[in-house]
Amino acid sequence: MIGATNGARVSITGLGCCTPERVVTNDDLSRTLDTSDEWIRERTGIRERRIALPEQALSDLALPAARQALAQAGGEPSSIDLLIVATVTPDMVFPSSGAVLADRLGMPDAAAYDLSAGCTGFMYALAQAYGMIAGGLSSRALVVGGDVLSKIVDWSDRSTAVLFGDGAGAVVLEAVDAGGFLGFELGADGAGGVHLNLPAGGSRMPATAESVAGGQHLVKMNGPEVFKFATRVLVSSAERVLAECGLSVADIDLYVPHQANVRIIDYAVRKLGIARERVVVNVDRFGNTSSGSIPLALADAAADGMLHPGQTVLMTGMGAGLTWGSAVMEWTGQTNGNGQSRRREETVGG
Ligand code: COA
Repeated sequence: MIGATNGARVSITGLGCCTPERVVTNDDLSRTLDTSDEWIRERTGIRERRIALPEQALSDLALPAARQALAQAGGEPSSIDLLIVATVTPDMVFPSSGAVLADRLGMPDAAAYDLSAGCTGFMYALAQAYGMIAGGLSSRALVVGGDVLSKIVDWSDRSTAVLFGDGAGAVVLEAVDAGGFLGFELGADGAGGVHLNLPAGGSRMPATAESVAGGQHLVKMNGPEVFKFATRVLVSSAERVLAECGLSVADIDLYVPHQANVRIIDYAVRKLGIARERVVVNVDRFGNTSSGSIPLALADAAADGMLHPGQTVLMTGMGAGLTWGSAVMEWTGQTNGNGQSRRREETVGG
């Protein structure tokens, strides 16, 4: 799916994020896994990640992120009529974390649901919220991207356990006079889904004592295959969306790629020819937070003074599915002067 949004002007007017307080370093991991700080840093760029406490679920991270985004955008939570939570680690299969969160935030009139597109979920949810607002179905949407992958990672598998972390981000979307989203490109390759999956717990392989004992409820990944896919689509999706919008790489002020591995980002940056100082990288501090990755990176860029109204921002995500998705937008920031755009992410837990 590809399209330039030459009709309705819709933008992000509030941004927030939240990570667990607990920091787990590479050295911490090497106490229980046959790995080392040196290997993880060299092969992935990750130094540490945030890991939720046993009692913390997705909505516990999403709630502070959403409150921060709403505070920045201004207005009452009840003004939100659409809430999409992009995640593969909802609190439970149902009710959706969207419905749980709408209740916790006090949004009685919002349509609320979850969206599953792997690490690309946030990009899919942005496009969906844009479409609902542009189509007149929604006037104000809250989009959350977040995951608590630590709950589904196999902590005895060094090839996956070192890569992931927990975190959530949230944005408010609404109509603006100028700027905002310029185009989207989204895709999926189900044939490649086998390279990154969680086999059990669905209707194909319901939970049994054997499925649990066999680790079938934990993430399985073919790292090198996913690496090849990721480097390919980060480049092709960015090129396609830019062409559709009549833009070139030279027009991009800020590039916000999915934060999975710094080597994947470096490859895409080199291939696309984007200047290094225009690239947001925080995978070193958070690892791969799946759907939380892009909003966390946006919030970090805002806190670091890298994100300003009028800038052209390119975001590209990729992940399980296999899926990918890009958006280009002219950043507007909050439009009501209510914001605290230099505020760092919230943390929860102890
Ligand atoms: N510590 C030490 N050694 C490790 C290790 C770890 N944490 N993980 C794997 N290794 C070993 C492997 O066992 C292998 O050993 P061998 O040569 O003796 O068999 C060696 O390192 C090389 O493994 P390989 O998988 O080829 O490494 P790589 O350079 O491809 O890096 C990933 C592995 C997982 C970091 C890389 O493939 C990757 O980032 N893939 C994409 C993952 C991703 O982004 N997933 C999410 C997408 S949203």
